[in-house]
Amino acid sequence: MNILLTGGAGYIATHTCLELLKAGHRAVIVDNYVNSQPEAVSRLEELAGQPVPHYVADVADREAMDRIFSENAFDAVIHFAGLKAVGESVHQPLRYYRNNLDTTLTLCETMQAHGVRRLVFSSSATVYGVPDEVPLREDMFCKGCTNPYGWTKYMIEKILGGVCDADPEWSVVLLRYFNPIGAHESGRIGEDPQGIPNNLMPFITQVAAGRLDHLSVFGNDYDTPDGTGVRDYIHVVDLARGHVAACDYAAGHAGCEIINLGTGVGYSVLDIVNAFERVNGVKIPYVIGPRRPGDVDACYADPAKARALLHWEAEKTLDDMCRDAWRWQSANPRGYRG
Ligand code: UFG
Repeated sequence: MNILLTGGAGYIATHTCLELLKAGHRAVIVDNYVNSQPEAVSRLEELAGQPVPHYVADVADREAMDRIFSENAFDAVIHFAGLKAVGESVHQPLRYYRNNLDTTLTLCETMQAHGVRRLVFSSSATVYGVPDEVPLREDMFCKGCTNPYGWTKYMIEKILGGVCDADPEWSVVLLRYFNPIGAHESGRIGEDPQGIPNNLMPFITQVAAGRLDHLSVFGNDYDTPDGTGVRDYIHVVDLARGHVAACDYAAGHAGCEIINLGTGVGYSVLDIVNAFERVNGVKIPYVIGPRRPGDVDACYADPAKARALLHWEAEKTLDDMCRDAWRWQSANPRGYRG
């Protein structure tokens, strides 16, 4: 298939692009580099051993999107583009709603106009809100999100569901990601957050590198075995393979399907710190701090539906995730900037 990746220079997208190419697909990238670097695409091309066509454009720019669709015959789109910082979304709700909804609406209108009706969307486990029970299943009722970023994912799921209801020729897979970490084993592509990282693993790797002093563990009084928050960490290469499987699935089915991409195993913050120290032989100084508003005790997937429909499951271990995250960070102390 010939597949368009919106936000294609980002962390999950570059890993996905590589897996798509390995599986024999063709891929085209559109990105405005608002939260990514052109260098990521150069590295991707180096790993793929082939050029990857890429456009610098905003997905909300209808004229630019029309041109891209006119110049390429796409079979499917994977929609990664979007703002994704939870805390920032609380302070800039309008920017988040405008950007994430506008890009999706423009993309779908452009797809419709050009007869492309296969879409894989980057949703998030955040749409489950504060869960009553774990593991989380796709058919569970979502009681509401805790921040505007999460609501944009929730709303986009509803929009895409409506598009499929209205036109039975559409095929949409809504992938609810759990916590992607790690990097490609080459150490050439990985996560490159701007400023101080919000998420646990990039924070840990920067502490390990000496760029940050210590980790604050956000609370140790949760209802979990060691009191720290439990999440379903998934290696980004496993996640990327899940997208390849979702594209294949979308090619053979119509309608809208929600699918979790997680391992089904929960690890606590201290599990991650301990595994990272053991695997990489580095110390992660930490202090126990207050809870972070909006955080839940435990969040992990029931991965059964992904196994049944996509014939996919995560293969890499927590040790792989820790090793690959540190390889990327130590080889690229300032990310793609050197
Ligand atoms: N944590 C710390 N210290 C830190 C950062 C995180 O203790 O400096 C803890 C958090 O409290 C949480 C765990 O580490 O228990 C994971 O936190 P992350 O910020 O890495 O990830 P979240 O689970 O909060 O959020 C992630 C993505 C969201 C997505 C959500 C889906 O960042 O985009 O998973 O559940 F919506």
